[in-house]
Amino acid sequence: MRDTRMDEFVDQVRSRSDLLQVVQSYVPLKRKGSRYWGCCPFHHEKTPSFSVVPDKGFFYCFGCHAGGDVFKFLSLIENVTYFEAIKMQAEKLGVPVPARQRTQKEIEEDREIADLRKVNTMARDFYHNCLTMTRLGTPGKTYFAGRGITDATIDEFQLGFAPAAWDKLSDAFQKRGVTKELLLKSGLVLAGKQGNSVYDRFRNRVIIPIADERGRVVGFGGRVLDDSTPKYLNTPETILFNKRKLLFGLDRARQAIQQSGYAIVVEGYMDAISVFDAGIHNVVASLGTAFTPDHARLLRRYAKGIYFCYDSDEAGQNATIRALSIVNGTELPVHVIVVPDGKDPDEYIRKHGADAFRALVKQAQPLLDYRLQYVLRHVAVDTLAGKRQAMQDMMPVLASVRGNTAVLSEYKKKLAKLLYVDEEIVTETLRHYHEPSEPVMRQRQDVPQRHILKKEENAQTRAGRTIIQTVWQNPEMLAHALASVPLQGIGDPVQREILTYFAQCQKEGRSFREGGIETKLSEEASAELSRAIAESIDDQDQTRVYMDSLAILEKAYLNARYIYHSSKAASLLEAGDVEGARKELDLANKINEAKRV
Ligand code: UTP
Ligand code: MN
Repeated sequence: MRDTRMDEFVDQVRSRSDLLQVVQSYVPLKRKGSRYWGCCPFHHEKTPSFSVVPDKGFFYCFGCHAGGDVFKFLSLIENVTYFEAIKMQAEKLGVPVPARQRTQKEIEEDREIADLRKVNTMARDFYHNCLTMTRLGTPGKTYFAGRGITDATIDEFQLGFAPAAWDKLSDAFQKRGVTKELLLKSGLVLAGKQGNSVYDRFRNRVIIPIADERGRVVGFGGRVLDDSTPKYLNTPETILFNKRKLLFGLDRARQAIQQSGYAIVVEGYMDAISVFDAGIHNVVASLGTAFTPDHARLLRRYAKGIYFCYDSDEAGQNATIRALSIVNGTELPVHVIVVPDGKDPDEYIRKHGADAFRALVKQAQPLLDYRLQYVLRHVAVDTLAGKRQAMQDMMPVLASVRGNTAVLSEYKKKLAKLLYVDEEIVTETLRHYHEPSEPVMRQRQDVPQRHILKKEENAQTRAGRTIIQTVWQNPEMLAHALASVPLQGIGDPVQREILTYFAQCQKEGRSFREGGIETKLSEEASAELSRAIAESIDDQDQTRVYMDSLAILEKAYLNARYIYHSSKAASLLEAGDVEGARKELDLANKINEAKRV
């Protein structure tokens, strides 16, 4: 149905928008006759082929052929839909958007989001002013100076300081009319023991504001000034702050990412700040969590490729491999920047300077080379078994470039040479390698949903679900879980199917969170997985609940083995095999010992 009010609204916003002014706020332009020229923000160029014709109300790039009206420009540069661009522009110009009837819940939610945004912005300014304009900020200033962070950087990132007191922010904000409820919701304060008192979360820490990709502050990271722990304290999860979906610095990096075509992903706030400071602006940091599929999706909106630059220690290298498997399969090409010495990019830059780091970026290794070297370091390829293992480890990566014959052939050669095997063997192995899309586990499609719901719930099933939940959120935990309880020890067959699938994916270096997981699992398993995800636990309780669950499963597993071996002993004894019975009993006793520790 045509909504004339909407048409009028769009016309009104368009007629009030000044294309030239809008474009110039992003791109420097020079006038020539009736046109304005500049370097195109949508592709990389040195001579201007991007033109704006203000009286006609359109822009056009002779290089990449991007063109359109003011909304098209905004939608391209802000990476939003055309309609979102209209709304953004309307907001800026103060043209009211014709309202659709909204539900009470939507209205409340919007209000809560707006309130949280406001209080976060206030907090950013509070901490920043405290650092730059008050005596209380001196320890913070000393800390930043000691790390070589300049006033310009403090300004650019609006860095701040939370004074060593329990109530500075909460007092100041309550005086300014912010309610306790809102302060608690924002995570800036915590509830005290008595009555309804509150106290500041961030104390005696330097503060790094974290914004979403549009530059709206959504949370904070606070670093201690010394070596005490936790090193960083972060805003807890709120409706605005979800670490799995946020990348620190993306607001500042967006344009540089679009122009250079790729994003550099580092591990730490300080790494991102240092790299940015070194003049390399297309850098973002994941907030101390593993790189997630959501991060990949977010970057895909701006980047044509990703360069990972994680810490040079073992943990960083393992994180790289995990991150690679997350991105592998989204069609983004991946490179790895290897930091040869120094713990992380920040230390490297402080030690060797910006140019040295820029050289590292230039030498970044394509995913395949990096994987190859990693596998070679971790597998003894001088043995036949090692060669076979290395070959298997590389297959998912080779398979991912099947479509590109030139690249594939290059890597087949490389792999063959490094493993000292005939190239024909690599080709053969790849031919027999199937991406695990086979419906190995698909079964019993005819089982109606009701059966699943009626399934008896016991502590073990709940524990198993918690493990699935935890591993889904933190894929790196799978190895930890399986080290305590092997797959055959997961009592529930449906849960075992899910975890088996996860393990299989990880073995092949793929993310189990991508690629239509529902189609790879049986109906029951798919339903159980959805349930596990839907019932996600609070972040704060996660570790405790996970450890408890693991203990329950471990105990059940040991119990089952104990019963197995002791009843086997009994039947062997009955059959007159005393020696065999003794062996089984010994085993049973050992398991019993293990149960007690
Ligand atoms: P790192 O320990 O590598 O931090 O953790 P860093 O950036 O090198 O820290 P500096 O240089 O000592 O200041 C990487 C990231 O993990 C998160 C933070 O986002 C950090 O930047 N992290 C780390 C936390 O959230 N909490 C912690 O206690 C530690
Ligand atoms: Mn560091």
